[in-house]
Amino acid sequence: MIKLSPSLLATDFSNLTIPLSQCNSGEVSMIHIDVMDGNFVPNITMGPVVINGIRKATNLLLDVHLMINKPENFISDFIKVGSNLITFHVEATKNPFNLINQIKNEGLKCGITLKPSSDISLIEDYIEYVDLILIMSVEPGFGGQKFIPGMLDRIYYVKDMTNKLNSKPDISVDGDVKLSNAKQIIDAGANILVSGTGIFGTPDPVSTMKKFYMMGGK
Ligand code: DX5
Ligand code: ZN
Repeated sequence: MIKLSPSLLATDFSNLTIPLSQCNSGEVSMIHIDVMDGNFVPNITMGPVVINGIRKATNLLLDVHLMINKPENFISDFIKVGSNLITFHVEATKNPFNLINQIKNEGLKCGITLKPSSDISLIEDYIEYVDLILIMSVEPGFGGQKFIPGMLDRIYYVKDMTNKLNSKPDISVDGDVKLSNAKQIIDAGANILVSGTGIFGTPDPVSTMKKFYMMGGK
């Protein structure tokens, strides 16, 4: 069963209730929220204050993608405002195990990710302790970029790594995911698709969400 996590980054921030209600109508599994600090990545987006507002406006699960240095300094704030799943970059912290424990001890799901240019071995020690592995298929920092072709092999590779584990984490893919490449990504082993432009850049986002589900069930 495929899950969809539409990225709010591709929406009009002057009225977030529109994409949130589209996500409701599209019966998505969760909403992807991109947090950038202008330091770990060359762009700044939103923080806990905005997530607090989003939390009040929807009951959908909040899938928070932290693209920030030293996430441990802010993690309690992101937990407090009602995040359901928090994914952090392995390159951004000195002690990933501490962070994984802190997130999971608070009853949240925890994901781990890395930049496309980072060696996949960086996450190997952690994959059996997380709920989700996020494979970035663009350099983090901006929506609307092109899928890096080599990342399809990375999905196959990670799927293979997780097959050896007793409890299998979700495999999510983020960056230029759209209807035209969704099948390839699912076939490679992903079960969660993050999509910003591929949904909100289309004329009818709700119908696009439904079409995504036709690619691999719900
Ligand atoms: C990139 C973000 C992505 C991005 C996806 O740094 O992590 O979640 O919003 O946007 P699209 O789907 O437009 O590539
Ligand atoms: Zn993201």
